[in-house]
Amino acid sequence: MDSDTRKLTAPVPEGAPQGQTPLELRLQAIMMAGREQGVDLDRDDLRLQPGQTPSPAALAEWVALSGLWCRAVRTNWKALLKLNANGAVVLLMKDGSAAQMARPDAVRNVVWLKDPSVQTEQDGVPVDELRIAQLWSGEALLIRPDRQGKADSEPWNFMWLARVVMAERTIIRDITLGSVVMAFLSVVPPMLTMIVIDKVVGYKVMSTLVMVSAVLIVAMIYETVLGYVRRQLTAVIALRLDLKMSLFVFRRLLGLSIDYFERTPTGQIGYLIGQSQKVRAFVTGKMMSTIFDLVNLIVVLPLLFWMSSTLAWMVLALSGVMAVVIALFIGPVRRVYARYMEAEVKKGTILVETLHGIRTIKSLALEPSQRDAWDRRAAEAAHWRRKLDDISNWPETLVTPIDALITRGVLMVGAYLALTGETTSVGSLMAFMMISGRVSGPLTSMAKLLQDLEEVRAGVGMVGMVLNNRPEVANPGAGLRPRFDGAISFRDVKFSYPGTKARALDGVAFDVPAGTILGLVGRSGSGKSTITRLLQGINREYEGQIKIDGVDLREINLGHLRRSFGVVLQENFLFRGSIRENLLAGRTGLTLIDAVRAARLAGAEEFIERMPMGYETIVEEGSPNLSGGQRQRLAIARALIHDPRLLILDEATSALDPESEALVNANISRIAANRTMVIVSHRLSSLVDSDQILVMDRGKVMDIGPHAQLLETCTVYRQLWQQQNRHMESFKSGKKSSALVPGG
Ligand SMILES: Nc1ncnc2c1ncn2[C@@H]1O[C@H](COP(=O)(O)OP(=O)(O)OP(=O)(O)O)[C@@H](O)[C@H]1O
Ligand SMILES: [Mg+2]
Repeated sequence: MDSDTRKLTAPVPEGAPQGQTPLELRLQAIMMAGREQGVDLDRDDLRLQPGQTPSPAALAEWVALSGLWCRAVRTNWKALLKLNANGAVVLLMKDGSAAQMARPDAVRNVVWLKDPSVQTEQDGVPVDELRIAQLWSGEALLIRPDRQGKADSEPWNFMWLARVVMAERTIIRDITLGSVVMAFLSVVPPMLTMIVIDKVVGYKVMSTLVMVSAVLIVAMIYETVLGYVRRQLTAVIALRLDLKMSLFVFRRLLGLSIDYFERTPTGQIGYLIGQSQKVRAFVTGKMMSTIFDLVNLIVVLPLLFWMSSTLAWMVLALSGVMAVVIALFIGPVRRVYARYMEAEVKKGTILVETLHGIRTIKSLALEPSQRDAWDRRAAEAAHWRRKLDDISNWPETLVTPIDALITRGVLMVGAYLALTGETTSVGSLMAFMMISGRVSGPLTSMAKLLQDLEEVRAGVGMVGMVLNNRPEVANPGAGLRPRFDGAISFRDVKFSYPGTKARALDGVAFDVPAGTILGLVGRSGSGKSTITRLLQGINREYEGQIKIDGVDLREINLGHLRRSFGVVLQENFLFRGSIRENLLAGRTGLTLIDAVRAARLAGAEEFIERMPMGYETIVEEGSPNLSGGQRQRLAIARALIHDPRLLILDEATSALDPESEALVNANISRIAANRTMVIVSHRLSSLVDSDQILVMDRGKVMDIGPHAQLLETCTVYRQLWQQQNRHMESFKSGKKSSALVPGG
């Protein structure tokens, strides 16, 4: 470990060590360990509620978020001494703090601990077993770089599924062992039946009957207990696989770039992702039962051959024919199934689209056309469902006589064999029939499994169509996390949206000094929003250079970048929950006081306080209980809650009534204190006080400068200004307002 060199770059903790809470020390120790592994952890990733201590598992999750490998373990002194960690080990202390273990020293029987509050150059302090017992909770975090690549970046496919299933191999092994024993037990009753019929009834031996009864009872007890255990284990494994899959799916979904979501209908994504349910049901249900069936076959088959090879061959052959019949239909079934699924996706898309746009649909009275579209899709889906049922009916029909042949044929042939003296007894014939049912059942269900596999394959493919899109960033933990001052510079930035030819930005260059306000104006479609999107790293495939405080945007950690911005758009989504929750937006370490401060700054305080429940008023989905202006002011407050160095307002006030707009505009100078602002607005009058105004036209910079200068130098700006203020001037004629008097 070259910890010493790295440690020099670690910032000295602010404040006196004795003033820090144990939790603070614990987080610092972990962050120091992370830094040694080459990653700066982001405190905001840890969803920390005030007054709540995060569990070791939550801490491990936090570290893992940054792309490091991390496990929370419970261990002991002996293991600690032997720990040959090729990474960092953080010991969690009883008092809630933590210390990093620099190295174990088995010879002297001590471990060297580093205290996060003391920046030493040495290995720290040696601590012996006795002292550790007093301090240490027994829990530790193991942290190292993730060498096998992040599991999260693996493609979603059968291999991934197989790996996840194999991770549970100890449970699967136990289940399989249990199944083997169960399979053996399950042949006990038929064998005993054979003995009862042949020996007891045939020779009238009472003692044998007693013994057989005893064995039956013991077998019964075993079977009951094993059955219980196996079902429990199956439930455990199902739950674990389920959890892993749903975590993976959701995390991957969130990691996809916004491009993808903009290009793909939400309904389609929802439907495709929904298919993971099918995959899950298969993996935890059908696949498990197939394991049991296989085990059963392996145990039972030799027994059948031992009892009567002729009959055994007959059963095998007939089962084989059944399997072939089913297998032959797989191809056609697959083709029809694909068509059916396609139709279902289209249907699902309409449903979600309708739900999303229900207000527009209602207010434009579009119900009939929506209903028509739905009817057409539903009919198409029904058509293919019918075809699917038709075609899958065939294998089942063809298999039925073979199935009957297996049971009844065995009876006939068995009887014939008994008559000709080839097989020994009536008892063994009965036993054989009882057992052979255990062969044909699994064999046919395995052939049917091929069909299910088809559905699952389609399901895996559909989920993959979503999840296997390129993630937004390959490694969410990588990149710089500078503290921003907020100076922005664009150098010859060219950009076109994927799938379009026209340049949305064409050679854009400008500078915004830290702490100033930049106004962005231009006609609709001129590229204003695009500039703000590039700034937030939403679109990253641009040419040229964008820098914040001289650091190339591409080098900056994406999560960090976005968290450093506050953004308010024209339409803002409020989550369901109280106003307070919406303002805090799950950010760590913030309280109601911050919410009130932000609300005041955004001019939202007065209406929140007039609400019946104040900050605890619940915002419904789509926030119908708030007016557009109130919603907007809440959004502005939400953007200000974490006091961002950079604030983007994209048409944020255009939905406001003049009164609330004036309220926000009056606050702009207070809002702008200490931060860089980029304000896009169609209303030029709200931009006159900006330090600079950038005039865009068709992706190009027309001019940049303060209002008064632009009125003289920039024709586009002058035209826009005159357009907007012609009626204003007649309206306000006589009033003297510096903002409204053109400089020229
Ligand atoms: N997601 C997108 N995919 C493809 N093209 C886009 C996308 N967003 C914007 N564009 C195109 O890029 C160009 C610039 O759009 P932009 O949204 O930056 O304009 P704007 O100046 O913000 O306009 P407005 O004032 O109407 O908001 C437009 O021609 C638009 O059609
Ligand atoms: Mg725009």
